[in-house]
Amino acid sequence: MFGLTACLIAFGGCDTPQKAIQAVQNAPKMLSEKEQKIEALLSKMTLDEKCGQLNFVVGPILTGPTLQNPPTSADLEGQIRAGQITGIFNTNGAKNIRHLQEVAVKSSRLGIPLLIGADIIHGYKTITPIPLGESASWDLAAIEKSAAVAAAECAATGINLTFAPMVDISRDARWGRVAEGAGEDPYLGSLIAAARVRGFQGKNLAAANTIATCIKHFAAYGAPEAGREYNTVDMSERRLRETYLPPYRAAVEAGAATFMSSFNELDGTPATANEFLLDKILRKEWGFKGLVMSDWASIEEMIGHGSVANRNEAGAAALKAGVDMDMMSYIYLKELPKMVAAGQIDLKFVDQAVRRTLALKYDLGLFTNPYQYGDEATEASVILSKENRATALDIAKKSIVLLQNPNNVLPLKKDTKTIGLIGALGEDKVEHNGTWSFFGEAKDVVSVAEGIREKVGKSTKILTSRGADLYNMDKSGFAEAVKVAEQSDVVVMAVGEAAVMSGEAASRSDIRLPAAQEDLIRAVMAVGKPVVVLTFHGRPLELSFLENQPASVLACWSLGTETGHAIADVVFGDYNPSGHLPMSFPRKVGQVPIYYSYKNTGRFYKGNYSEAPSERVYQSKYRDVKNTPLFPFGYGLSYTTFTYSDVKLDQSEMTNNQSITASITLTNTGKMDGEEVVQMYLKDDVGSVTRPVRELKGFQKVMLKAGESREITFKITASDLAFYRKDMSWGSEAGQFKVFIGGNSETMNHKKQ
Ligand code: BGC
Repeated sequence: MFGLTACLIAFGGCDTPQKAIQAVQNAPKMLSEKEQKIEALLSKMTLDEKCGQLNFVVGPILTGPTLQNPPTSADLEGQIRAGQITGIFNTNGAKNIRHLQEVAVKSSRLGIPLLIGADIIHGYKTITPIPLGESASWDLAAIEKSAAVAAAECAATGINLTFAPMVDISRDARWGRVAEGAGEDPYLGSLIAAARVRGFQGKNLAAANTIATCIKHFAAYGAPEAGREYNTVDMSERRLRETYLPPYRAAVEAGAATFMSSFNELDGTPATANEFLLDKILRKEWGFKGLVMSDWASIEEMIGHGSVANRNEAGAAALKAGVDMDMMSYIYLKELPKMVAAGQIDLKFVDQAVRRTLALKYDLGLFTNPYQYGDEATEASVILSKENRATALDIAKKSIVLLQNPNNVLPLKKDTKTIGLIGALGEDKVEHNGTWSFFGEAKDVVSVAEGIREKVGKSTKILTSRGADLYNMDKSGFAEAVKVAEQSDVVVMAVGEAAVMSGEAASRSDIRLPAAQEDLIRAVMAVGKPVVVLTFHGRPLELSFLENQPASVLACWSLGTETGHAIADVVFGDYNPSGHLPMSFPRKVGQVPIYYSYKNTGRFYKGNYSEAPSERVYQSKYRDVKNTPLFPFGYGLSYTTFTYSDVKLDQSEMTNNQSITASITLTNTGKMDGEEVVQMYLKDDVGSVTRPVRELKGFQKVMLKAGESREITFKITASDLAFYRKDMSWGSEAGQFKVFIGGNSETMNHKKQ
């Protein structure tokens, strides 16, 4: 029995409170200081100036389709003076931004300061790991700190708004933008979304070292058909609400200042004019009060989608649905004034959007001090400071995931006589900053080679060979690489994707190591020396060719500025790897979308693949590959080993307002101190609608000394069991649940209730 009943809370059901509410509503409203400021400004604005406040334009770094006539800085200044732009994005430099703010404040009619936006996705100059990499740390405090460093650095240059965090759940490694998110799971994704919002915005948005966030891309942008960028998204409302929406909501609850609508359509309506998403869910259900902006030209692109016929219709649809600000369509600036004048759209929609824009500027403290962001002295002292680099190193180490270490080749000894460093990413500095790092500079990156050289003793010889390129099948470098391997005691291979192979507009239909790198690894392994493979990538790769091979493998993502130091700390055992995958690594690309919280079918294949494929008929499976991923969600090894005791429950039944405590004893059974990510999954055996085979509902990152044991407990309450029931109400149902606690999503360590 699990006697849970529907948990309905009724508001405003009796007369008296309703009357009281009405009385308050009818009383003359006392405007707050902020509202007074906004209303005073609004009353002075012409219609053109209002529409100008809704027009957000790019600076020198273009991050969308190339413009026919990119604005020159003289154009931009002219537009600022004329009150035609609310802000500029993807520009930088304290001196430059100070100048732009001065133009706005001193030379535009109303002196309204500018928003200065930028895609600060994983650092400004001190580049931290790509968000998917950071998510592998499962360390919320470290993720928050990393975002705070990014905020402080870019605020010092004058940027006051970042287009981050991207909180799109994705289960499709073909999609290049998985690099920017937190992976496949809504629970982990929600906690990370909130941590990033806290990190960027801090406790006070008006402080000089915090910036506004923009939660993107609303919504479900991470589920494009076939993993192809910008493609159509279509899914049930249940899946949308259960899997894709939770991180956006967590960001609202964490106080995110702004949202960005996504490029994709959902259920036949582009997200940029989707009233169901923008109005019903975001504003009415979640109570979001902040500003919503479009994505790059996504208002105009609705013409391409075929949901509107022209720019006027596009502008009206977006504004009415709740998109307050137009990024790069120039529709609000150019078409809205004519449409309002012609009575085609009510001025109230424009006013509402302007109010939200001015409110954001007020909250950022721009009306009090328009120059507080961007200060040359702070810029010089904060950017790439020792402390910031230390934060980047800390999260970089924590992001690395040990995938296999079959012969315990890792950690390497610092006095190894000769180390061969092979691969295109060994001495490289350009690729390690990864996607979305245009302000980061290659010269600031510590390469893998530099990191290793700093770490080893003077007597260690390091031989290097590029071996193969990231882009072509040229194998002429193999012979030299093989020679290096022959002369070495151990080989470290640094291979992977180029930075541009993930991120926006970087979907891949083949997610193996690009070009000749697999063959290079095979050729080097054939030499027979101990091999460590460092894979750098923006997405889960298909690494099946390494299964059952003697090579040790570390998944390293793009680690940023401190790449070489982080790698050296992990490879030589000064840091025991603690990362766990935030996204499943498929065996073959044909398995994607692949994720741990799948549903059983009526014919789910439960065999062990020992039968011939022809005997496994009429089962939900492939003929040529197992159903399981190569490395599951939550997976990650350590240089030590951990054992889990059986799961214990303090009671086996509970009702709606009770809880159950589940516990295990975790023991570090190896010889090194180390950290484990202890994960708790729940399975609802039977529901009014089918339920996933398990769902993550809790985790703790635990440090244990060699030989140490500790009891780890998780409290399970009714809200952990809740889901969208048959009638789409949110709540739990009576029934039997299983609790699994282990080190990855395939753990079978469970106890039946
Ligand atoms: C991307 C956004 C980004 C914007 C501005 C768009 O193409 O989808 O994520 O914030 O450009 O650079």
